[in-house]
Order: sequence, then structure tokens, then C-alpha cells
Amino acid sequence: MGERTVIVTGATGFLGRQVVKAFNLKGWNVEGTGFTRADRSSILKVDLANASEVEKVLNEHNPQVVVHCAANRFPDKVDADPSGTRALNVDATRSLAKLCAARGVLLIYISTDYVFPGRPGDAPHETDAATGPTNLYGLTKLEGERAVLDEFGAAGRQGRGVVLRVPVLYGPAESNAESAVNVLMDVVLGVQGGGARVKMDHWALRYPTNTDDVARVCHDVAARYLEASSSDCASLPRVLQFSSEDRYTKYEMCQLFGEIMGLNIDKIEPNTQGNDPGASVQRPFDCKLSTRALRELGIDVSTQDFVGWWRREVRAFRK
Ligand SMILES: NC(=O)c1ccc[n+]([C@@H]2O[C@H](COP(=O)([O-])OP(=O)(O)OC[C@H]3O[C@@H](n4cnc5c(N)ncnc54)[C@H](OP(=O)(O)O)[C@@H]3O)[C@@H](O)[C@H]2O)c1
Repeated sequence: MGERTVIVTGATGFLGRQVVKAFNLKGWNVEGTGFTRADRSSILKVDLANASEVEKVLNEHNPQVVVHCAANRFPDKVDADPSGTRALNVDATRSLAKLCAARGVLLIYISTDYVFPGRPGDAPHETDAATGPTNLYGLTKLEGERAVLDEFGAAGRQGRGVVLRVPVLYGPAESNAESAVNVLMDVVLGVQGGGARVKMDHWALRYPTNTDDVARVCHDVAARYLEASSSDCASLPRVLQFSSEDRYTKYEMCQLFGEIMGLNIDKIEPNTQGNDPGASVQRPFDCKLSTRALRELGIDVSTQDFVGWWRREVRAFRK
């Protein structure tokens, strides 16, 4: 097998950094792209909103695979800048997909469990379950999915554009604020001593999944889809989902972090309030993703143990 090249967008981000490592580990040539945090030596600076910059990078590096991690995914930033978010999450995704489809480059688009409404009784969600995002972030990610599938369909390259949905992520972080899970460590630390009381959701079910596991799955999907011929590829699934089986509410994660760090969490109050039935926007209760499509492809969906990972992390931090 000749040398293989992958371009990872969002390589300065929480997931992208681990995706770069996973492909490196398997001996691929890896080119990571970032934007504000790109150092221009190890990470290329590419504004994905600028199609000619993207085209130049594809021409220069001629990848077999692009893993598209870049997105605006912080709900407050999404709501504060809906047009900027749509420009990145949807329009830039479409233009990247068009360029990849024209070249026959395999594109793996990272999406989210928030494409589902997560109503009680709906879980687990198969890949073809009815979508219905409850917030703008989920909506733009769903539109990004459709853009990828449309562009590859229009180019007659079905099966070379693949969506990989994942749930809330945790893992090695530059700062805990990078992850909706890691940040709960800061919440537990923040209520110590004179820290104020906080309310924590104890209703919605979450499936925290490690970025290293997602990165490994991205590699395995790339390898599996590349090994299929163009005709076989068209029959491969276009939407895949990966998730840990570890299930926690955010309050339960705080309980666990308190236990691991030997800290009291009495000042964290569990909030069991679900959706107000009269509210126009309902929050997802359980967006559990079925991993069936990945398993049927023979891809390993095992994950590291959430409790074990955090025990090791805290121990390493204390050394
Ligand atoms: N984190 C989660 O819990 C989670 C859960 C489900 C799905 N996802 C999905 O997973 C993917 C990765 O998320 P993440 O947590 O790694 O996000 P992240 O840490 O916020 O990283 C976002 C990346 O996008 C890049 N970026 C932003 N604007 C750009 C632009 N105009 N041009 C080029 N690059 C740009 C950023 O580059 P700079 O920082 O250098 O500007 C950064 O590398 C996203 O698609 C997200 O929707 C994440």
C-alpha cells in the first residue's frame, strides 16, 4: 500500500488534535489545518470560508481523505453569531464537500447527536431515525450533513462523503473549558471553600465519549472506505454513528469527579426539572446514538472506561 495523506480540518481544536495523532500513529502523512490557533509550521492556516484557500491546500497535498472537524460548536457563540456559524458549519462544509467530491477524495464529516430531538422513548437512534434539532447548533450541523451528502450525490460519488455523528466529548484538553464534560471538573473545584452554590442538570442523559476513541474510529472508517472499490463504495452507509455506552447526567459526572478528587459536592444541587411541556423549544432528553452501522462494517466500537480515564487523569495531574 502506497503512502496515504489525510487533511484534518479543525486540527487546532479539541477533537482535531487527537485525529491528527491517530492518523500519525498509523503512519499516514497528516496535514492539519486550523485558523486563529494555526502556527503555520505544524498546522496550516486555512480559512475554510475561503474556497480558493481550500482548493490550494487540496491541490498541494493531494489527500486521499479529509476529516472535517472544524465547526462552531459552542452554543453561546452559535447564538451570538448565527450567520458566521452558518457560513462555517454549512456553507464552508458544502464548498469543501464539492471540492472533495470533484477529486474523489473521501470526506468524513464530524456531526453531532444534537441533530436529534432526543424525546423520551426515542433512544437509541439508528442512523435513519427522524432528525429534528432543538437548537441552532444542531440545525447547522444537520444542514452540513445534507450539504455533504448532496454534493457527493451530485458528483456521482456516493459513499465517498460520509457523516460520522458523535455525542458529547471528553479527553485531553488545553483547558477544561474546551469540553462540556471536562469543564465539570472546574465546577467541582469552584464550589470548594467559599465558592457559590450551583444547580446542575440531573435530567438529560449524556454519553461522554473520549476524543481518542473517536479519532481511532475516524482512522478505521477511512481505511475501510478506501479499501472498497468505487462501485462497492456506493453501497456503504453514508451516515455512521459512534458513542460510548457510559451514561451519566451532568450531575452524576460531578458526583464522580468529586469522588475521584476526594472533594465535597454538597454545594452542587441536582436539577431534575425536565422540559416545560408548554415551552416552544424542548431540550433533548436522550440522544443515544446506535453504533449498529459501524459494527456491521466490522469497525471496533469499544471505548475506554470513563471512570478509569478520569482516575488516571487526576492522578497524572497530581504528580
Ligand atoms: N466537542 C464536543 O463535545 C462535540 C460533540 C459532538 C460533535 N462535535 C463535533 O466535533 C467537531 C470538532 O469539535 P471540537 O470540539 O474539536 O471543536 P473546537 O475545539 O471548537 O475546534 C473547532 C476548530 O474549528 C476551527 N475553525 C473555526 N473557524 C474556522 C474557519 N473559519 N476556518 C478554518 N477553521 C476554523 C478552529 O480553528 P482555530 O481554533 O485555530 O481558530 C478549531 O480548530 C465539530 O464538528 C463538532 O460539531 C463536538
